[in-house]
Amino acid sequence: MTIKEAIVARHSVRQYLDKAISDEHVAQLNALIEECNKESGLHIQLITGEPECFDTFLGHYGNFSNAVNYVAMIGSKSIANLDETVGYYGERIVLEAQCMGLNTCWVAGTYGKKKSKAAIGANEKIVCVIAIGYGANQGKEHRSKTMAKLCNVNPADMPDWFKEGVEAAMKAPTAINQQKFRIALDGDKAVITAGSGPMSKIDLGIVKYNFEAASGHKV
Ligand SMILES: Cc1cc2nc3c(=O)[nH]c(=O)nc-3n(C[C@H](O)[C@H](O)[C@H](O)COP(=O)(O)O)c2cc1C
Repeated sequence: MTIKEAIVARHSVRQYLDKAISDEHVAQLNALIEECNKESGLHIQLITGEPECFDTFLGHYGNFSNAVNYVAMIGSKSIANLDETVGYYGERIVLEAQCMGLNTCWVAGTYGKKKSKAAIGANEKIVCVIAIGYGANQGKEHRSKTMAKLCNVNPADMPDWFKEGVEAAMKAPTAINQQKFRIALDGDKAVITAGSGPMSKIDLGIVKYNFEAASGHKV
């Protein structure tokens, strides 16, 4: 599966099989996480076989089952644009995981922040987690705002690369499926901005990653 195919196939999965992530996949994920941490300065960690994080009132409310692994999205509070950086690198991990046959769900609300076993340094914070494992299902496609609502460029005037990017952005996960972002074309450059809303800066990073991966153009 290519990253472009992963963008289409990915949906949030909240129910997982009672099956540990294979040693091979753990090694691949840890290598990718190390690369992301080096590039971004984040302190992302993979935590496996740890059911407590989702074993909370909110976790049950969110309908999670067999969610025992997660990627803890941690970073120093001094990183500029911490939320956006978390979104960007987290989505890279999400899409690579999809290519490996794993499923994921971004989780900022329905987990036990205090129950996380991740190591959080003195000046660091846990922004959110990403549940990960072999899905009991593949999730389902989210309802999306129309292209016209998200982007002010007439589809007939869109270069092919830009259209591909917008379509991939529309498939990106956003908190409570809020899709509070806007995409514009400034000369030959795409400009993506975040609207207001809870976690909209994390969403912005996620959307930018999807756009870049599908269009091949840096935002
Ligand atoms: C930043 C962020 C936070 C999220 N937090 C939660 C959460 O706390 N609980 C949950 O069940 N889903 C959460 N989600 C998943 C969204 O509800 C989901 O991505 C959205 O409805 C779109 O559906 P899709 O991912 O299947 O395309 C979150 C997603 C994002 C991007």
